[in-house]
Parts: sequence; structure tokens; C-alpha cells
Amino acid sequence: MYIQVTNNGTQFHLTNGRLSYIFHVMKNGQLGHLYYGKALRGREDFSRLQAYHVQTGNSTQLDDDSAFSIESFRQEIPSYGKGDFRSPAISLRMPDGSHVTNFVYKNYEIKEGKPSLPDLPAAYANNKDASTLQIRLVEKRLKLELVLNYTVFHDLPVITRSVSLDNRGLDRIYIERLMSASVDFPEKDFEMVHLAGAWARECHIKTRQLQSGIQSIGSARGASSHHYNPFLALKRFNTTEHTGEVYGFNLVYSGNFLAQAEIDHYDNTRILLGINPFRFEWRLEPDECFHSPEAVMVYSEEGMNGMSQAFHDLYREHLIPKHWQKEIRPILINNWEATYFDFNEEKLLAIAEKAKDVGIELFVLDDGWFGSRNDDTTSLGDWKVNKNKLPKGLKHLAEGVRLRGLKFGLWFEPEMISPKSNLYESHPEWAIKTPGEHPTLSRNQRVLDFTQDEVVQFIYEQMAQIIRETELSYIKWDMNRYITEAYSSGLEADCQDEFYHRYILGVYKLYDRLTKEFPSVLFESCAGGGGRVDPGLLYFAPQVWISDNTDAVERLKIQYGTSMVYPIYSMGSHVSAVPNHQTLRHTPLSMRGDVALFGTFGYELDPGELTAAEQKVIEGQIQKYKQHRALIRDGDFYRLINPFETNETAWMIVSKDKHEALIGFYQVRAMPNWRRQQNVRLAGLERDWEYVVDGQCFYGDELMTIGLPLPEEFNGVNGATAKRSGDYQSHIFYLQLKGKQN
Ligand code: GLA
Repeated sequence: MYIQVTNNGTQFHLTNGRLSYIFHVMKNGQLGHLYYGKALRGREDFSRLQAYHVQTGNSTQLDDDSAFSIESFRQEIPSYGKGDFRSPAISLRMPDGSHVTNFVYKNYEIKEGKPSLPDLPAAYANNKDASTLQIRLVEKRLKLELVLNYTVFHDLPVITRSVSLDNRGLDRIYIERLMSASVDFPEKDFEMVHLAGAWARECHIKTRQLQSGIQSIGSARGASSHHYNPFLALKRFNTTEHTGEVYGFNLVYSGNFLAQAEIDHYDNTRILLGINPFRFEWRLEPDECFHSPEAVMVYSEEGMNGMSQAFHDLYREHLIPKHWQKEIRPILINNWEATYFDFNEEKLLAIAEKAKDVGIELFVLDDGWFGSRNDDTTSLGDWKVNKNKLPKGLKHLAEGVRLRGLKFGLWFEPEMISPKSNLYESHPEWAIKTPGEHPTLSRNQRVLDFTQDEVVQFIYEQMAQIIRETELSYIKWDMNRYITEAYSSGLEADCQDEFYHRYILGVYKLYDRLTKEFPSVLFESCAGGGGRVDPGLLYFAPQVWISDNTDAVERLKIQYGTSMVYPIYSMGSHVSAVPNHQTLRHTPLSMRGDVALFGTFGYELDPGELTAAEQKVIEGQIQKYKQHRALIRDGDFYRLINPFETNETAWMIVSKDKHEALIGFYQVRAMPNWRRQQNVRLAGLERDWEYVVDGQCFYGDELMTIGLPLPEEFNGVNGATAKRSGDYQSHIFYLQLKGKQN
């Protein structure tokens, strides 16, 4: 029983042997939270988990029961105005200007599987994989109904949550906030982990001890952002990558979000996750319903890696488009860093031809193929071929690429408009602006008002036509600026704070239409690299260009950080030329390949400029990737050595049956006279099985306890005869169960 309802239908216990999540109906009719964590055995009554003690001083109380104070009780969906003074999960504004609500329990329903969320991306599951509990609460005075959706996955330590609010009254109301998840913990001793960064250095791992008061991350940029990922974890002080407890939270949403931890005056910790209440308000008319995005909650007793693996499994099996779950993703070459805007058909076909020779499978034409675009100042919105550069048209180019044995893909930036464009001349009103305000440019461009259906429809028609005409196999959907002067002429004055959410719904609408109509087109999302790396977009686009930074050393951190939440096979990772275009660093081709190997692999360089020796290296890299592609797609990923803490990085991916593993080891700076023997301790293997690696045999426990010895050049031996490595070195190990070697 994954959902146990006890104590005369007042207690709810979601459990799957890996976690327990328990809440109950309190004596005031509201829902109280009781427990979230390690799996507990079921029992009839858990109410003793409610901290019920006599309050002193000025605590709020329930009528004549002075010990009942929601000021300190853990709550399931805390609301504003009845005596809980912490940040609420829900806050409304009524026509008379009041804000107080009192949602009390009405009934519950259990469904096998998982209902979808209208207009929003969400995890999916069939009846055998998940069970859903829906709790209905009512606000009797205002005639509002709140439905709390909880899905517990049977084989994963995961619960998803979302909330919907139904207006059954006669008055319109305004939603000021409706968080997707709220969890109260009866303690404060946690570290908060999140991912932060900026363009070209996304997803750096940040850890800090929680302090009394509010600490939060979020976005008000109109996208989930390069700056903070919609992910937050609480871990115990002694939790490591491999052991200990951690609670992970991730929002399936690509717009403005808030993830917040609040420690109150009794040292309880409240986590809130949802749409950022800043610049959000939603007018809800009678008979209308509003759905929050979905929050994913992971509980791991197996450290940060355990948490990450649960996210990875969920996203691979229950979030990305089904078509792409097991489908091989082609190794691609993208012309951006090879040509930037300066190309013609001949140049592109020469790249494609060379790419084919080394084994590449897909050619992607990046920015600059449309309108009259020769730099980033014009033409966004004019999704018609640039006849000056490609006089024979796109179809001709696409066929030329296919004739050379590669698939063809194209870059779009659907949400944008250049002030210098035909689209802007015919529809200046489609560019977002606040009346009377001078619009702020970013990368010389403005954003289209995707809250308006006709705008989305127009862009859809242009894209669909090109997909059909050129028989595209792949689209890189970019988004290169954040939103300023947010406002839509299509919205009434009291609905302007719906703008950001409606904008993202417009983005989802376009994604939905295109992915449904063209299910075999592979979408890769991008937002100036990692400006929208979130599960909301993974639902449509199974891979994402996680950073414009292709430098192998920088990528160690970016990929390591991104792996906290997102599967390796969702991370676009390409080998580019040196000196690197972002850092000017020279790293060996071998290291660039060894880093990119742990992702969806590709190249971002001109293969015509490779020496014969480099071409050979690349052929080898491609063969290696093809050999291990299924393992990279399906295996369990482990972070082993942390690049944020040391000069080294190591990670590995182990097949689910533990028969094979791929290990990447990287050393940034050479260290003279360093150590005599260095081992890298592995994880995830079967202790008693014998494995073969580079011709040597080891037991799983040896590899996990003593470690895998590194080649001589990593040991800092400076003797005249010893191998030496220099800076930026790497080594890939492939390990197989003894007797299973090919
Ligand atoms: C963004 C993307 C790059 C490239 C350029 C093209 O910066 O992240 O990969 O596509 O736009 O303008």
C-alpha cells in the first residue's frame, strides 16, 4: 500500500519503503504536517508526531485550547492570516481587500498512476509506477476549493506535488501566491545546497549552513535563469556524496521561481518552492481553476549521489518525451564556433563532409541562416532563409547535408524579435514593452509577447513550415535575453502580474504543438547556454545546451554541478577548438573529448582545420562515444572527486546491472613531486564481483575501498624516465565484469 489512510480517514501516509511522508487533519480542520524522511512502518495513529505542548507568552491559540497553536505547528499548506506568521504557501486577495483564508479538509481520492497537469509540463507515470493522493480542502466562507496532489513513485524515493485552486464562489479573487510545495521540518541543522552562476559559469555548487530567518534563491528574470537553478537541497552536516540524508527539491517550471528555507523562532525549517510571488498575481474568476507547476521532492539516504540518481531516473523515465527515452541521440557538429555568422553553403557542406568522415551523425546550422542576419543586430522573427548567404535555399542545403550522410538540424530563437526586422515593421506591438517606457535592449533584441496566442500562432506557422520543408531532424531552441518592461497590451490592468506566468505558458504551448506534431524532431533547449536548465523544458526537449562555455576545465565544474539534478544524457557537451573561445585556454584535444564524453556528445569546431593526427583522435573519440552511448544514457552517475574542492575531478557511470562502468579522471594543473601512487575510489559496483580494467583484475570492494590506481603520469613522478603529464590531463577507464569483456 503506497498510500495509507488511517485514524478514521484523518491521517495520510505516503510510503514506498524508501521514504515516508505523513500528514493529518488537525483539530481545527486544517492540514498539519507530521513527518518526511526515512521510511517508517505503517501505524494506525501518528498524531503523537505533532509537537503539542503548552505555549507561553503571546502565541496564537485555538479558542479555549491554548496549547493548539498553528504558530509553531508544522503545516501542510500554510496560509496567511490565522496565526501562522511564517511565510505562507498560499495567499489570496479578495474583492473587499481582505486576505485571510481558512482552508479545511473536505475529502480525499486515491488514483493509480498520475494525472497530467493542464497546460504545464509534469512527470508522467502509469498505474504500476505511481499512486496519487488528491486532498480536497475548502474555504467555506469564500467558496474556494484547493486540491493538493501528491504522487508517490513506487520504485523511486520521489514524491511530486502540485496544488490547484478552484473558484466556486460568485466573486473573482486574486491569487497572490500559490506555492507548489511547502514542507516543515522540526529542526534546523541542515546545510542548504543550490546551484548558482552566470552566463558561461552556470550551475556552480553552493553550500551554506541554514541560519535563523529566511534564505532563498529565485528568479524574476522571466526564465529560470543562469543565476539560480530552481533546485534546493537540505542535507545533514555529515552527508557526503555517498552517505547520509538529503532532501532535494526541484520545480518543473521555466519561469520566475522562488525556493526558500525559513528557520522560525522554534527552530523549525520551512521549505517553500513555487512560482515567485514577486510580480505574480492571478485573477481567478468564478468557475476558473489555477494550477501551480509541479514540485519534485527526493529523499535520499545515500548522500548527494543518491539524490541525483533519483532525479536522473525520474527525468529519464518519467519526464523527457517518451520517444527519446531509449532513442539514440546523434553525435552532432554545430557550426557556431566554426563560422559564427560568416558562412555560405559551400563552407557548411565542407564542414558536413569532413564531419561525416570522422563519424559525426548530425549537422546543426546555428544562428545567422535567416532574414538578413550577419551579426546579432537584426532579423530575429524573420524565419525565412537568408538568400544572400544561402541563395539556393535551406532545403537545398539540408539535402546536400543528407546526401553526405548526416541529418540536418537548425537553430531558432522563437521568442525574440529584432527591432531591425520585417516582423518588427509589421508588428511592433508584438514586442514586449511598458507603455511610455523606453524598451531596454539586450543583445540588441527584444522579447515577443508570448502571452498572446496570435504571436505564438504566427511563430508556430513559420517554424512548422521550415520543419516540413527542410525535413529537420533537430532544433536548437535558443533564448538569449531576459524580460524587461514586462507588460502586455492584451491583459487588463489588474491582470498585468499574470504576465510572467502567461509568458511561460505561451512558451510551453509552442513547444507542445511542435513536439506533438513532430515527435521525431529532437529539440535541444538553450538560453545563452544554461539560462533555462530546468525540468519544465526537459519535458519537451530531452537535451539542453548547458553552457556557452566549452572550455574543458570550466566544463568540469559546470557538468559536475548540473549533474546534481539533471541526467548526464541531457547535457549537451561539445568539443571545441583551442584557444578556447570563452577562456582562451589551451587544453589537449584528449581532455576536451574526455570531458564531453559525459553528456550528449558533439563538436563545435571546423573539422577542416584539424591536422591528420587530430582527425584520428576525433575518430577515436567518436567511436568511444558510440561504444558507450547506451551506458551513458541509462547508467547510474556518481560524482567521485569534486572540482570545486580540488585540482582533480572524477566521475563515473555504472550500468544498472553493474556489469560495466566508465570512469573519467581529470587533473587541471600538473603537480611536481606530488604523490607516489594515487587511487581513485569508485562507487556503485558489486562488492564481490571481479572487474577487469586496462588488463588488470580487481574486486568491486577493492575498487571502492582502496581505489583504482591511476596511470603513472598522474602521480607527479619527476624522474627522468617516468611519464609526465603537464597541465590539463585526463584518463578514461572502462571497466567490465570479468568474463564479460568484448
Ligand atoms: C547563444 C547560444 C550559442 C549560439 C548563439 C548564437 O549564445 O547559447 O550556442 O547559438 O546564441 O547567436
